[in-house]
Amino acid sequence: MPKQTALTPELQTYWSEVANTFFWKKKWESLQTGDFNDVDFKWFNGARLNITENCLDRHLEKRRNKKAIIFEPNNPNEAASFLTFGELHLSVCRFANLLKKKGIKKGDVVCFYMGMTPELMIGLLACARIGAIHTVVFGGFSPQSLRGRLDDSKAKLIVTHDGAYRGDKVTPLKSMVDEAVIDLTTLETIIVVKRTNNPIEMKAGRDFDYAELIKDCDLYCPAQEMEAEDPLFILYTSGSTGKPKGLLHTIAGYMVHVGKSFKDVFQIKENDIFWCTADIGWITGHSYLTYGPLLNGTTTVMFEGIPNYPTPARFWEVIEKHKISILYTAPTAIRSLEKFGPEIPESFPMKSLRVLGSVGEPINEEAWQWYHKHVGKNQCPIVDTWWQTETGGIMISPLAGITKLKPAHATLPLKGVEPILVDDKGNIINELVATGNLCIKTPWPSLARTIYGDHERFIQTYFSTYKGLYFTGDGAKRDEDGYFRITGRVDDVINVSGHRIGTAEVEEAINENPHVTESAVVGMPHPIKGQGIYAFVTCNDHLDNTEELEKAIRDTVTKIIGPIAKPDAIQIVEGLPKTRSGKIMRRILRKIVENDLDNIGDTSTLLNPDCVDKIIKGKKN
Ligand code: PRX
Repeated sequence: MPKQTALTPELQTYWSEVANTFFWKKKWESLQTGDFNDVDFKWFNGARLNITENCLDRHLEKRRNKKAIIFEPNNPNEAASFLTFGELHLSVCRFANLLKKKGIKKGDVVCFYMGMTPELMIGLLACARIGAIHTVVFGGFSPQSLRGRLDDSKAKLIVTHDGAYRGDKVTPLKSMVDEAVIDLTTLETIIVVKRTNNPIEMKAGRDFDYAELIKDCDLYCPAQEMEAEDPLFILYTSGSTGKPKGLLHTIAGYMVHVGKSFKDVFQIKENDIFWCTADIGWITGHSYLTYGPLLNGTTTVMFEGIPNYPTPARFWEVIEKHKISILYTAPTAIRSLEKFGPEIPESFPMKSLRVLGSVGEPINEEAWQWYHKHVGKNQCPIVDTWWQTETGGIMISPLAGITKLKPAHATLPLKGVEPILVDDKGNIINELVATGNLCIKTPWPSLARTIYGDHERFIQTYFSTYKGLYFTGDGAKRDEDGYFRITGRVDDVINVSGHRIGTAEVEEAINENPHVTESAVVGMPHPIKGQGIYAFVTCNDHLDNTEELEKAIRDTVTKIIGPIAKPDAIQIVEGLPKTRSGKIMRRILRKIVENDLDNIGDTSTLLNPDCVDKIIKGKKN
């Protein structure tokens, strides 16, 4: 029997009207089928399309000479550059032909491990042009992390830079790739885009210079006709258990929700210059630096550098220089600039700005006010957008200039999104004013379809905690206006500077150190990063020099995961609080780290109650 839709007739009409604003080679046979019980939801099944025709070709008639990408290099003395929609179209076709020449076909996985230069965005679109699946690995991850992702995705080709600029540093990406791919039989080809000219080794037959290859590639490449539910990309993210999971997004649903949410949330106008400061290695860089703007024919700014290089005025200089009208950034970036004082943004009028956005973590009220006053000059609405790698696009957010704002509130769901709060027992909370676990009731188009290669884990992680619902892993409050305020993760995931890090992953890395017996990692309040990483560690031998051990632990984590997962505080303890069955009580450790000692609860039933006082006495900071 054909599957039924989980949507009301009103939502069916809504989504088909939205979808009709895009370009399809063939329209869908069924709008939506499946639900959160069967975890086999499909959107626009039977339709055929290519997302790059929606991002590029269909704009050529009216926007051929409009800027598609503005590239602002790391070094402010290096000239900025741009590509028009016409030029971007040619560049994407050319890159697509390069991939074909290297044997990449529809359904193959191509990995990108790069700095933020236009070739990265062009490369993603080139994959989409020919039906290859892209997977971007953030350049801050270690070779070992990269290897895990290459191994899991079975990528055949990787595109990298010789090195990437970040502030005054150069990250030697090509040599990191060399280390990652030793004895990896699935990866066949490495394409190197030269950027920093640091010395690199090139292995004949495997490694190729991008500039050499691209010059002979044709400037036209037909768009491969794809099925609506064919994969578009895999993006890895951390969870509360196990290794990072590759969320798989499919073409049509992702396109429809991302295109529409971009337009509505930011209330896009034809002449907007949109700057999303995220790296393309994260979902924000996929959805709202690349696809969202291009689907809407909007000029998108790509910034290679970091907020405080060469000075903490860089963001404001870039806004003035490119007459940016919408800035979409993370609370961490705002807080890191806030500490240099309001005088810096105050000395820039930034008259072009009309909307500000925030994403990635809860924004505290103080940072919200600072952003509103000193950056937006009390004139620009702030859209606090809540969403996740899994959701593909924005779920809860004000619509700029339309929704009445409340500082630090993500406010209301977008049309077609049905959030609900659930208590710990799984009961739906019907009272308006409530606190609970945030779930979503019905499918929306851009929800990830599976965890690549592990559908069972997908079901277990998101659809088993509360039967028939998608569980986000976040806690939220709802107020008398029905506004949502996201309070943060309720699982073992830490949000460091807006980057998700699983405590289990960090513990596993720490435990690799030969002196360590076991460890427990919890999130700690951090004035800039939002959350920092606090690690409690027990050792198998007595060490006088704990500083050296702490350094060794940090080095181990950097090697295994990357510098973003380095613990901010390490406390060597004699024992970790455990239940009689031997389970580490992370809840107690969390309370200690948060200085919430009154709520530690009864410790007398622990296996080793004495350790709690000792841990409190030895607490760092
Ligand atoms: O905890 C929420 C937080 O970031 C998590 C998703 O992380 P990631 O998949 O890396 O995607 C980040 C960019 C969309 C969420 O589970 N989060 C994201 N946006 C907000 C937020 N927390 C509060 N307010 C937000 N606006």
